[in-house]
Amino acid sequence: MSTPITFTFTTTLSLVIISVSLLSSSLGSVTATETQRNETEVRLMYEQWLVENGKNYINGLGEKERRFKIFSDNLKFIDEHNSVPNRSYEVGLTRFADLTKEEFRGTYLGSKIEMTRGSVVGERYLYKEGDDLPDHVDWREKGAVGPVKNQGYCSSGWAFSAIGAVESINQITTGELLSLSVQELIDCDRYFNYGCNGGFMNMAFKYIMEKGGIETDKYYPYTAIDRSRCKSNKNKNTRVGTIDGYEDVPRGDEMSLKKAVSHQPVSAAIYADGVAFRHYKGGVFNVTCGIGMTQAVIVVGYGSSQGKDYWIIRNSWGINWGEGGYMKLQRNVKDPLGKCGLTMMPSYPTKLAV
Ligand SMILES: *[C@@H]1O[C@H](CO)[C@@H](O)[C@H](O)[C@H]1NC(C)=O
Ligand SMILES: *[C@@H]1O[C@H](CO)[C@@H](O)[C@H](O)[C@H]1NC(C)=O
Ligand SMILES: *[C@@H]1O[C@H](CO)[C@@H](O)[C@H](O)[C@H]1NC(C)=O
Repeated sequence: MSTPITFTFTTTLSLVIISVSLLSSSLGSVTATETQRNETEVRLMYEQWLVENGKNYINGLGEKERRFKIFSDNLKFIDEHNSVPNRSYEVGLTRFADLTKEEFRGTYLGSKIEMTRGSVVGERYLYKEGDDLPDHVDWREKGAVGPVKNQGYCSSGWAFSAIGAVESINQITTGELLSLSVQELIDCDRYFNYGCNGGFMNMAFKYIMEKGGIETDKYYPYTAIDRSRCKSNKNKNTRVGTIDGYEDVPRGDEMSLKKAVSHQPVSAAIYADGVAFRHYKGGVFNVTCGIGMTQAVIVVGYGSSQGKDYWIIRNSWGINWGEGGYMKLQRNVKDPLGKCGLTMMPSYPTKLAV
């Protein structure tokens, strides 16, 4: 009933600027007939990737060589994928390029969720025949979405997802985009949630509601450290990120999710274990996903390009993954659970405009 979502995290806290040259050498120059790289070239790419991702293996040279082998295997997967013409999406050297599939899944993703506890499905976004929804929504264009953040070594995707949705509904109702405290949820919201070991977005909304708001990120900054003492302030004046309630979007229904997202960014959990997901660099992600919710994200919009419908997904793996931290995920699929289970458990905070 209540296995927490254990969310993935990344290898370093510092945001890394994507090198255009590395990107173009790993994606652009590969064609169907030329996927072979010699060792010198791969080593050069590895060294460049190490620098760009601030990698410094504590176990020294042995570890660096071991990781080189994994990096090479991942690069082979990336080159092979991108060598097929007219793929819907591209993969590339993300910050996870030195991890095996098992490491990524076992260490960083962990358990899957069955269903949330205490969640109530709201009717307000239930899609009805005749509802007229916009074709294109992007809350980033409306200033309702803050910069992409980075979880670091902490399975706190659930907290980033919840905080992002709360930041957005506050911007939509008050006009002010705040940066709110993920760390407060990690340290203080321990009744249903598990800090760096996973948690539920709707239980995070519950905490924020019951506490009368949440501190700003500036007041209570992110450390990615689990089990530190709760330092939340009893003074209500500093708890500026407030909500009135929270609900789930009707499940298994992309049209209801579309209706919800046309009103506000929505928290959701998806299956993120796949190797293509980990290396995703751009385009409309249309891989056949497994079942199970292992990463929490925020749906901040939707649209279509060249006949392909997609959701705009905001992740918390920093900007050196996907399209500057975002993914276009295939929309309008046959599976009622959506691509990668997106419609299994979407939820959102509520707040009346002041
Ligand atoms: C390896 O590949 C690079 C780039 O394609 C090329 O410049 C270099 O001459 C190659 N080295 C060997 C030993 O084949
Ligand atoms: C790929 O797409 C281009 C442009 O749409 C098209 O001309 C070409 O035939 C396609 N190639 C394959 C192999 O489908
Ligand atoms: C993804 O899209 C590409 C390009 O349109 C297509 O060739 C491929 O079959 C699609 N894959 C899936 C699993 O739908």
